[in-house]
Amino acid sequence: MKKIGVLTSGGDSPGMNAAVRAVVRKAIYHDMQVAGIFHGYQGLMEGNIKELELGDVGDIIQRGGTKLYSARCLEFKEKEGQLKGIEQLKKQGIEGLVVIGGDGSYRGALALTNLGYPCVGVPGTIDNDISGTDYTIGFDTALNTVIDSIDKIRDTATSHDRSFIIEVMGRDAGDLALWAGLAGGAETVLVPEDPFDIQEIAGRLKRGRLRGKKHSIIIVAEGVMSGQELQQKLLQEADIETHVSVLGHIQRGGSPTARDRVLASQMGAKAVELLRTNQGGKAVGIRNREIVAYDFNEVFEGVHHFDEEMYKLSKELSI
Ligand code: F6P
Repeated sequence: MKKIGVLTSGGDSPGMNAAVRAVVRKAIYHDMQVAGIFHGYQGLMEGNIKELELGDVGDIIQRGGTKLYSARCLEFKEKEGQLKGIEQLKKQGIEGLVVIGGDGSYRGALALTNLGYPCVGVPGTIDNDISGTDYTIGFDTALNTVIDSIDKIRDTATSHDRSFIIEVMGRDAGDLALWAGLAGGAETVLVPEDPFDIQEIAGRLKRGRLRGKKHSIIIVAEGVMSGQELQQKLLQEADIETHVSVLGHIQRGGSPTARDRVLASQMGAKAVELLRTNQGGKAVGIRNREIVAYDFNEVFEGVHHFDEEMYKLSKELSI
């Protein structure tokens, strides 16, 4: 291929810029042209496309958000929208597309591939919920943001002998909650992958109090329920008072960690390599420290791997 396109789509994640930079620079290194598509699939359908040069991706590796902007686009779920997108790509002489995003973005990329247009997926989401890759770009940064918040909330929780519920993102996956809970020393972690028993949580909190522990941190993944719902449950069913802190979109922002920048650079470059060698229809991932490519279908047929061992450990260490 001589000309490829790149877009970011869905919820942004720290490190997307580093991935875009890698795509552009790796492609130019191999004498290919790169078109930046702005505002995700919406921009693709509207032809919001501009050729990118080396300088366009300078000074962005350290920046959060995405220089290409992002969008969630309902119209692109329909075949009509997808055909509009392909028409724009062909009009501009773009032969293949790198899609950086999460689950919904991958569905769009798979649809284009099934319509005969080669796409490669790069996993950009803080949720770490893409099947077939150990990590997604942005997860590490979001995790560190959550940890920073937990540490701060714990300071005030300790000063006032309070129990706090901290609601974290992750959509239907509990990775962010689990890793944050383990790294932040939370007393309880609730994840969608494991049903919870309110009396068990209450018993744990009460036992802690009897031992003289006057504060505690409960991490709840948004896929379980909201922090406020959990607060109500604990009050009504176990007479336990808590404070709630919803971290929200703060988790999606900020300068990417070194780890996310490196991962994004490796994955962006791999995506170009795949298109360059005419291997569309693949997702890029990392498995056991190796950057890999696998069939798009595996993403949707597979089940996101939740680390049961780590979950068990988080429970053991928070007795
Ligand atoms: O997929 C990333 C994510 O931040 C999820 O964790 C969250 O459920 C969702 O996006 C929020 O989406 P929006 O920013 O569109 O409200």
